[in-house]
Amino acid sequence: MEHHLLCTSSSLLLLFLFSSIPVTSQFTFGSSKQAHNYANVSCIENERQALLLFKHGLIDESNRLSSWIGEGCCSWEGISCHKTTGSVLKLDLRNTLPPYFDDDDYLKNQLGGHLSPSLVNLTNLQYLDLSLNNFSGIQVPAFLGLLKNLRYLNLSSAGFGGEIPHHLGNLSHLGYLDLGDSSSSPTSNWLRTKDLGWVAGLFSLKGLVLFSVNLTAARDGLQSINMLPSLTTLDLNSCGLFNHPHLSHVNFTSLASLDLRENNFSNYTAPPWLCNLTGLHDLHLGYNNLYDPTHGLFDQMTSLVHLDLSLNRFDTSTLKSLCNASNLTYLDLSGNNFQGSIPSEIGQLSKLTNLVLAFNKLNGTIPTNLWQLTKLQALDVGYNSLTGVLSEDHFAKLRELKSLRLTGNSLALNVSSSWVPPFQLHEIRMGFIIVGPRFPAWLRTQKEVEELDMRNASISDAIPSWFRVLCRNITSVDLSSNSLTGNPLEFKQHRPSRYRSRRIFLSSNKFDGSLKSLPLDISDLDLSHNFLTGHIPQLEVGQTVVPGMRSLLLNDNRFTGTIPKNLCKWEYLYILDLSNNLLSGRVPLCLGNLRDLKLLKLANNSLSGQIPSSLGNLWQLSSLHLNGNKLVGKLPASMQHLGNLEALDLGDNGLKDIIPTWIGERLSNLWFLRFQSNNFHGPISDTLCQLSRLRVLNLAHNNLSGFIPHCFNNISAMVSGLHGDGVIYGPERLEDIKGGREVEYYALNLLLVNSVSLSANNLVGEIPDEIMELVQLQVLNLSQNHLTGKIPDKIGNLKQIETLDLSMNALFGAIPESLSDMYSLNSLNLSHNKLSGPIPSGNQLQTLTDPSIYEGNSGLCGKPLPNSCWEHKLPTKNGPIDDDDEGHSESDWSWFYAGIGPGFAVGLLGVLGILLFKKSWRYAYFKFIESACDKIWVKTTRLRRKFR
Ligand SMILES: *[C@@H]1O[C@H](CO)[C@@H](O)[C@H](O)[C@H]1NC(C)=O
Ligand SMILES: *[C@@H]1O[C@H](CO)[C@@H](O)[C@H](O)[C@H]1NC(C)=O
Ligand SMILES: *[C@@H]1O[C@H](CO)[C@@H](O)[C@H](O)[C@H]1NC(C)=O
Ligand SMILES: *[C@@H]1O[C@H](CO)[C@@H](O)[C@H](O)[C@H]1NC(C)=O
Ligand SMILES: *[C@@H]1O[C@H](CO)[C@@H](O)[C@H](O)[C@H]1NC(C)=O
Repeated sequence: MEHHLLCTSSSLLLLFLFSSIPVTSQFTFGSSKQAHNYANVSCIENERQALLLFKHGLIDESNRLSSWIGEGCCSWEGISCHKTTGSVLKLDLRNTLPPYFDDDDYLKNQLGGHLSPSLVNLTNLQYLDLSLNNFSGIQVPAFLGLLKNLRYLNLSSAGFGGEIPHHLGNLSHLGYLDLGDSSSSPTSNWLRTKDLGWVAGLFSLKGLVLFSVNLTAARDGLQSINMLPSLTTLDLNSCGLFNHPHLSHVNFTSLASLDLRENNFSNYTAPPWLCNLTGLHDLHLGYNNLYDPTHGLFDQMTSLVHLDLSLNRFDTSTLKSLCNASNLTYLDLSGNNFQGSIPSEIGQLSKLTNLVLAFNKLNGTIPTNLWQLTKLQALDVGYNSLTGVLSEDHFAKLRELKSLRLTGNSLALNVSSSWVPPFQLHEIRMGFIIVGPRFPAWLRTQKEVEELDMRNASISDAIPSWFRVLCRNITSVDLSSNSLTGNPLEFKQHRPSRYRSRRIFLSSNKFDGSLKSLPLDISDLDLSHNFLTGHIPQLEVGQTVVPGMRSLLLNDNRFTGTIPKNLCKWEYLYILDLSNNLLSGRVPLCLGNLRDLKLLKLANNSLSGQIPSSLGNLWQLSSLHLNGNKLVGKLPASMQHLGNLEALDLGDNGLKDIIPTWIGERLSNLWFLRFQSNNFHGPISDTLCQLSRLRVLNLAHNNLSGFIPHCFNNISAMVSGLHGDGVIYGPERLEDIKGGREVEYYALNLLLVNSVSLSANNLVGEIPDEIMELVQLQVLNLSQNHLTGKIPDKIGNLKQIETLDLSMNALFGAIPESLSDMYSLNSLNLSHNKLSGPIPSGNQLQTLTDPSIYEGNSGLCGKPLPNSCWEHKLPTKNGPIDDDDEGHSESDWSWFYAGIGPGFAVGLLGVLGILLFKKSWRYAYFKFIESACDKIWVKTTRLRRKFR
């Protein structure tokens, strides 16, 4: 479906959705009472034959149907017969294992193959369940419409695809039809229907589940479904419904449960007929961007028990109109447009067990009435602008509370160190609120915690020893960005269990000392940005296969020694960041065995030797940062297999090579390429221009020679901006030096960085006109080469340019007037060339008044230089007049700043590299609401300077 979400990770979310589909088929089925496994009832031969033929068409890898032999077909697995006639009434071939979609046993237990039409000979069949199998995208067979006695038909999650046959509309006795979730069929071939007209024939229908069936093209929308007066359950979740479901008169007033989540409605007005469904218990409208102009949509819906309005645009009046629905137990209003304070009427909803108000614009203090909701099990007010200090009194009545989410508010928690809360929480989310400065002692009483988030919670304390013990049972701990001291957790090494992953994030604290061991029962460990010393621990001897770890971040510490080889035993690692430490020795060859690696950062250590060619095995790698080491030699040719690479930083090493042609030819996904400060020599290969996604190219400070290629205008990302397939990186950051300032780029900004730096090489010839087509460029640095000719007149096309450095070349002629069209320019350097004539003025140029910008061009005149043009002779045909006038004496001084200063700063672009994936992958594990938050969350903290 084309889910249109407020947040970015639709596919992620989808994954989450599909892995948590409730098992919907617990529908009561009246006539099944007469169906039993009567082994003694003799089975009808014709039906037995039909079943055998049916079995013959199936692929049954795990041999689930091994009992389908012999005469007594009534005792076969999944079959129930009529107790007197022996006629088959029920065929239940639902996958018997729980739906873990990544579990091999589950997958193997799926039936496949094709469905034999012999099934129509089961003329009395009332119940057919083929759910949770995998029929690989085949169509729902039309002959099912001949099974006139069917009461129950469940084909959900069975991999059926394509157009639903309208023949199903002949099943006039059908009480329940589930065609939901065809996600196991190929995505392009999910179930769909062009016309829902056939549904009107199902006039006994009580339950209809079309979850994820593509109804985008269904012309009549809900009209046919509106013909079904007995309908009590309707699930149209993720159906791609586009047309507003307009109904002039609502027929299905007996509806008790309605799910319209995640559709594509073009009209954001909430359907007004909803308010006639006064008997609704469950209503799901999430992810639709709907609002209610009448402000009274829910006034009459007093029987509501479960209401999900998440990610819409309902406002505070809706919240008030809901307060009549006194039966509500579950209320999710996250991601709406609620402003002002939480209405105190919320206290009328005394049956509430789940209240979600996250991601709104609520402010003020939390009303006292809310704390009287004694049945609350889950309270989520995260990511609002709530204020106030919460004390023990607030929580005194919340004995049932299991989940408390306060993250992202201006709240503070002030409780005594002896507080014993009345609850036992499973989930604690208190990130970005004030919990400290002391480590919260009350945590010690919480024995059932599974998730703990106290990121950036102003805790400045040592981790108490009791917490180290408690922590062993917590699935996810995030205490990053506090000022925790001491030695971090002592990890107990024991084997990870199969379905359990543990995550521990302790980055950006003040932990010191050394690590005694690395944990084996943890899937994600982040200890980055601390003061840890000593060696990175070896895995314990005798540990054989320890596949648990998925991401390991030890970057920005003071680890010494070599990279332990047995890190390579973590064969499922996909993120490994050891950058910014004091590691030495070689890059271990065995890293090439980590076939799942997506991000490998070893930058800014003292690693030596060559880049091992085994790294070429890491074909999934998307980000490789080996910059800032002492690596020598050539690039291994095997690196051309890294076709998924998007960011490659090999800068600040001693590499000595030409720029291989395969970089342009094979690494076609690159958008970040940095080779600065090595010994690359030879010409800049034209093939680099094939990197159509490239947005950062930095080859500065090498020995490159020859001309600048004339094909840079083929790098379409720099010409036309974003690529259509826009990769979304989430909140990863690219640290960069821009105009001397340190800047953090977050998600959206990141897509805007475009820079080319070729400075400090031996490039000759003219500046190609083609560069002037790179209109997205923000930084262009060609300084310190031997470039000649004029500055192209079209330079003014580069309207986005903020930093332009052409200094220390041999450029001559006049400065083009168009330079004054560069409205974003804030750092310019044209010094030490042979430019002549008047300096253009106007617009942005007027703000660049530092004379050193133009220093060392003796033919230039006019502001900001001291020599005005009228006292100058016009330059002659032979070039600039070479006169040693007064102003020259100060040039030696300003040269340093003008020539080297900005050039150096720009040249360092991206020294610090990119933290791709880290966060997005980390959040992949979180429940969607939490991940959505981190994508929306705009972090404003500045990084401390990290130059050494
Ligand atoms: C749903 O169907 C419409 C047209 O019928 C199509 O354009 C769209 O891509 C389909 N969506 C999915 C997710 O298959
Ligand atoms: C149904 O049974 C009849 C009688 O045995 C047989 O002739 C016919 O082929 C069967 N139909 C199908 C579709 O298998
Ligand atoms: C309501 O249902 C009846 C029969 O079930 C049908 O005749 C009528 O057209 C329906 N009304 C609407 C507005 O669809
Ligand atoms: C909703 O109910 C009101 C009053 O019972 C009725 O007048 C109106 O036509 C109904 N609207 C729809 C769309 O069924
Ligand atoms: C959107 O739906 C509302 C309610 O059905 C209707 O009044 C309005 O005219 C619709 N707007 C558009 C642009 O179709």
